[in-house]
Amino acid sequence: MSPQGHLHVTVFPNDRVAARALARRLADAIAEQPSLVLGLATGRTPIRLYHELSHLVSRGQADLSQVRTFNLDEFVGLDGSHPGSYRQFMQTHLFGPAGIPAEHIHFLNGAAANLEEECDRYEAAIADAGGIDIQILGIGTNGHIGFNEPARELCARTHRVALKASTRHSNAGLFGGDEAAVPKEALSMGMATILRAKSIVLLATGKSKVSCVAQAVQGPVTTRMPASFLQLHRDVELVLDEAAAKDVRDSERSQSIG
Ligand code: GLP
Repeated sequence: MSPQGHLHVTVFPNDRVAARALARRLADAIAEQPSLVLGLATGRTPIRLYHELSHLVSRGQADLSQVRTFNLDEFVGLDGSHPGSYRQFMQTHLFGPAGIPAEHIHFLNGAAANLEEECDRYEAAIADAGGIDIQILGIGTNGHIGFNEPARELCARTHRVALKASTRHSNAGLFGGDEAAVPKEALSMGMATILRAKSIVLLATGKSKVSCVAQAVQGPVTTRMPASFLQLHRDVELVLDEAAAKDVRDSERSQSIG
């Protein structure tokens, strides 16, 4: 979605304005290409975006009935009906309210009998759909994207991953605040799976993201900061609010709105 073909940073005054603007742009892209393939993220950050999109649908200003979706990740051991699963999170915040038909929704099954085969199935399903047109990302405070955690090496393809303590802590809300109930592992699209998307939009808001956003934008490309790999993609936009953009140098900002 970036007009310039490189990492593009747009800063909005607050998270509400950012979510509203992004929802509108997604609705426009979908109007142009109704069966667009959307890559989707969970987490607290995109909730507002999903609500704004659903709101556009309910007012007849967006139609997501033909869109196909692939979510980034899912917890190991949970099937899509588990209340803590990312599949249920998406049902509540987007799929239900925006009326996305179940047959257009693709999700990793964390309860599959053979998790390796499940990862291969997912890669093949993305390829069969013609690849992801627009991938929405959030960012973990440690710089993870999807569940690609900082490490000495990163995985290219969809894979099984052990979650860091900090990541389990920040996901505890899905399990009634009980950190011990958060699964220790997840399945996640890999770095190449994400970077193959035709365009990528990373949404980050709030002051807890100041440091990871600054490192992702202007730090070195390193496996210790997985989001820094976005610098290598030709069409990435970071949609930030002022709080998250605090340490992004003016020279790195492509646009400030409002
Ligand atoms: C989870 C997800 C990520 C998401 C991150 C940030 O770990 N797997 O895709 O970006 O949370 O979440 P939040 O938006 O709540 O800060």
